[in-house]
Amino acid sequence: QIKRRADYKPPAFLITTVDLHVTLHPTDTRVISTLKVTRQGSHNQPLVLDGDNLPVHKLLIDNAPLAAKSDDNDGYILTDSSLSIPVDKNEFTLYIETSIAPDNNKALEGLYLSGGAYCTQCEAEGFRRITFFLDRPDVLSVYTVTVVGDEKYPMLLSNGNPVDKGQLSDGKHFVKWHDPHPKPCYLFALVAGDFDLLTDSYTTMSGKEVALELYVDKGKKHQGTFALESLKRAMKWDEDVFGLEYDLDIYMIVAVDFFNMGAMENKGLNVFNSKFVLADQDTATDDDFFNVEAVIAHEYFHNWTGNRVTCRDWFQLSLKEGLTVFRDQQFSADMTSELSNRIKHVRVMREHQFSEDASAMSHPIRPDEVIEMNNFYTVTVYDKGAEVIRMFHTLLGVDGFRQGMDEYFRRHDGQAVTCDDFVSAMQSATSLDLSQFSLWYSQSGTPVISVEQQELENGKVQFTLSQRTPKTSDQHDKQPLYMPINIEIIGQGGELYSDNEGVINDGMVILDKESMSFTVDASGNVLTPAVLGNFSAPAKVDNPLSTESLLTIFKHGKDAFNRWDAMQSIYDRCIRELEQSPEASIDENIWVGIRSAISREIDNVELLGECLVIPSFETLCQLRTSVDVAELSKARTEFCHQFAQQLEAALLDVFNSIESKPYSYEQSAVNQRRCKNVVLAHLALLPQYEHLVTEQFEASDNMTDTLGALRSAQFCRKEVFDSLMAKFEQRYNKDPLVLDKWFALHATQPTKDIFATITMLCEHPQFTMSNPNRVRSVIGSFAFYNSEMFHALDGSGYKFVADYLLKLDKLNPQVAARIVTPLTQWQGFASQHQRLMKEQLGRLLNHKGLSKDVFEKVSKSLAYG
Ligand code: ARG
Ligand code: ZN
Repeated sequence: QIKRRADYKPPAFLITTVDLHVTLHPTDTRVISTLKVTRQGSHNQPLVLDGDNLPVHKLLIDNAPLAAKSDDNDGYILTDSSLSIPVDKNEFTLYIETSIAPDNNKALEGLYLSGGAYCTQCEAEGFRRITFFLDRPDVLSVYTVTVVGDEKYPMLLSNGNPVDKGQLSDGKHFVKWHDPHPKPCYLFALVAGDFDLLTDSYTTMSGKEVALELYVDKGKKHQGTFALESLKRAMKWDEDVFGLEYDLDIYMIVAVDFFNMGAMENKGLNVFNSKFVLADQDTATDDDFFNVEAVIAHEYFHNWTGNRVTCRDWFQLSLKEGLTVFRDQQFSADMTSELSNRIKHVRVMREHQFSEDASAMSHPIRPDEVIEMNNFYTVTVYDKGAEVIRMFHTLLGVDGFRQGMDEYFRRHDGQAVTCDDFVSAMQSATSLDLSQFSLWYSQSGTPVISVEQQELENGKVQFTLSQRTPKTSDQHDKQPLYMPINIEIIGQGGELYSDNEGVINDGMVILDKESMSFTVDASGNVLTPAVLGNFSAPAKVDNPLSTESLLTIFKHGKDAFNRWDAMQSIYDRCIRELEQSPEASIDENIWVGIRSAISREIDNVELLGECLVIPSFETLCQLRTSVDVAELSKARTEFCHQFAQQLEAALLDVFNSIESKPYSYEQSAVNQRRCKNVVLAHLALLPQYEHLVTEQFEASDNMTDTLGALRSAQFCRKEVFDSLMAKFEQRYNKDPLVLDKWFALHATQPTKDIFATITMLCEHPQFTMSNPNRVRSVIGSFAFYNSEMFHALDGSGYKFVADYLLKLDKLNPQVAARIVTPLTQWQGFASQHQRLMKEQLGRLLNHKGLSKDVFEKVSKSLAYG
C-alpha cells in the first residue's frame, strides 16, 4: 500500500468536462455524474476510476447501459476502491449514478453534514468518497454542478458562478453552478445550509468588480467583518506584490464548525474551520485575529499558487503549500510586524519541524513514499517548504524572485506541475546555479551549522563554518546543502567587522561545502559571531559563545532577530546549569545583563515582549537528547522562579509602564498587550502580585487580556485559578470556540488529578468527540503540551492517549493520526520514557481495524531504531 513518487505515470484518460447533479439527502444523497472522457495515447486499457465504497446504480457509455461483469458478459468491475470500465472508444460520454450518506460521514472527508449544513472536503483524496472519478490532481476538468436540496437549505453553493436556479415540484429547489476554470477534483466544493450572509465587493486592479460573500452560522454575523476586511487586504496585497488578480465574478467563504484542518482553497468557494473566520474583541485574542487574517490570505493566495497552477501529483504538495505559506508569511509581516512574525514562524520550525525530522516520519519537503496522503500535510511540507522558498527569495532578491514567479505563471498557468518546474522557473531569473540548492527538495533532516574561531598570528582571527546533516529515519547519506547564512561579526563595543577575503557580502555568506573559512582582522579585540540571523536557513546552530558574547549580541546586534535569539540561548544555558545541579544559582552577571537589557529596551515593547519569553519545554527538548521529562521541567520551572525573583523590580517597571487602553487590534496595541501579559505571567509566580492577575481579569474588555490573566492564574494559588476558571466557563458557556481555550488550559495543568479533569471535560455539554476542534483542545493539548503528565513515568499519560485514540480512530482517522504524533516521537526521550511509549504504540498497532492513517505513523515509529 506504499505509493512512490518514482512510479508516476501520466493518466491513461483525461476527463474534459464534468456535469454533476447532486440531490441532497442525509442518508441517501444521489450523485449523477456525466463525464466527457478522452483516451490519452494509443493503448487499450480499461478506464479505471477511483471510488471509495460507492455503489453503482446505473452506468451508461454514450447512452448505452453497461452492467457488471458476469460469466458470460463483459462489464464493469466494482471493488471497494475502484471501478474498472472496459471501453474501446477513444472519446465517449460516461454516465454514472451513485449514492452516499453524508450524515454517517464522521471522518469529515468527502460530503458530510456538519451542524445542520452540508459541506465537502476533497483534498487530498476525498472526491472518490462522493463519486467515481480519476481522483488525481493532474486531471483537470470544467465543472457544471446542479445542487438540489430541501427548502430548509436555502443556500446551495458550488464552485464558480451561479447560472440557473429554480423551484422543483416536490418542495425542493436547485441552483446550477458553472466554473469556467479547468480544475482537479480536489478543488471541488459543495455547501448547502441556512447561514447568515455578509457581502461586500472588491474592484480588482484591472477594474473588474468581484462580489465577496461570507457565510457564517446564524447569529454570528458581527464576528465575520474582520475576515471580510482581511480578504480585501489580501486581494490588494497580491496585486501589489505579485501582480496577481482574482479571476471569477464571485468569491465565497463558508465557515463551518466541523472541519479537520484550518481551511480549504476550493475554487471560488473556500470552506473554513469557523475558528479561522469568527473574531471579535470579546471572543478572539490578538493571536486569533492574526490567524484569521493569515488563513484567509493563505486560502486566497492559493487561487494562483495551487489552483491556477496546481500539483502534478501529491508528492509535489510543497509546490503549492510551501509557496503559499511563504506568501502568507510575507503578507502577515507587511500587515503586522516583521520581527514578531519571524519569531513566530521560527518557533514553529524549532518546536515542531525539528522534532518531525528527528522522528520516524522524517521526510524531505517533497516526500518519496506515502501510505496515507493526509499524513503528509506536515510542518515539513508546509513550514520547511516555506523556508526553502524564503531562501530563493533571499538568494534572488525581491526583484529576482518576482521575475521567477512571473516566469512560473507564464510557463505553467493552467497546468499541473512539479517542484522541478518551479525551480527551473526560478533558475531562469538568476545567474546563480541552483542545481545544488535543489537538494533541499530531496534531502530530509535538519542540518547543523558549527562555528569555530581560531586566533592566528598578527591579530587575525579565523572563522570556520561547517555543516553536517545527521542521518534520518528515511535517509542515511547526506550531502552538503547550499545555504545562505546571515552573519554579523561584532566587537565588544558593538563595531561590525568585515572579513579579509570578501566572502561576507551584505551580511551574508554562502555555505555550500562541508566547511569554509575566512579571516578577520581583530587587532586584539574579542569578536562575537552572530550566525544564522533571521533564521536564514532551516538549520540548527552549534556556536559555543560565552554568556558575555551572547549579551554582546543582544546589546549590539543589528538584526533584531539575532538579539532575541541570543537571549533565548542565555535562557537555555541557565536551564542547563539547573539540570546539572538543581541547587545551582545563576551567575549574578546574567541577571545584571538582563536587568540592564530590560531598562534599555523598556520602550521597545515588541522586542522586549519576545525576549522575556522563556523557551518552551518543546523547544528545549529539541536542544537536548535523552530527555528526562521530570528533570527538565523541574529545571525550567526553577529557572522561571529565579527569573521572577531576580527581576521583580524590572518586570514590575515594564508592567507599570504599559497602560491599559480601550481595545483595538492594531499593531502597537498588540505589542503592548503581548509584553504586558508575558510579564504578568512572570509576576504571577510571586504571591504578592496575585492581585494583578485578578484585577486584570476583572477589568479586561477583551479576550487577549482575559485569557492572559487566566493563563497567569495557573501560577497563583489554586483557589484563585479555580475561581477564575469557573467564572470564565460561566461567561462563555454558549460559545464552544471560546471554551476551547478553557478546555486547553485545563488539559495542560500538570496536576495529579488530570485524568479526572479530562474525563470531566469530555462530559461537558459543549464537548463532543465528533468535533475536531474540541478533541484537539482537550486531548491534543494534553498530548502535545502537558509534557509532565503525558510523560508521567507510570505510563498513565501514554496509555490514556492510546485508549482515546482507539475510540477516535473509528470516527475520524485524520484527527487521530495528528494526535498520535507526540507518542510516535519517542526518540528524544530517556529510555524509561521510550519503553513506555513503545508499549502503547504496540497496543495501537495490534488493534485490528486500525486506519491506515494511524497505522502508517505507528508502524514507522516502531520500526525506527
Ligand atoms: N490545502 C489546504 C490548505 O492548506 C489544506 C487541506 C488539508 N487537507 C488534508 N486532507 N489534510 O490550505
Ligand atoms: Zn494551503
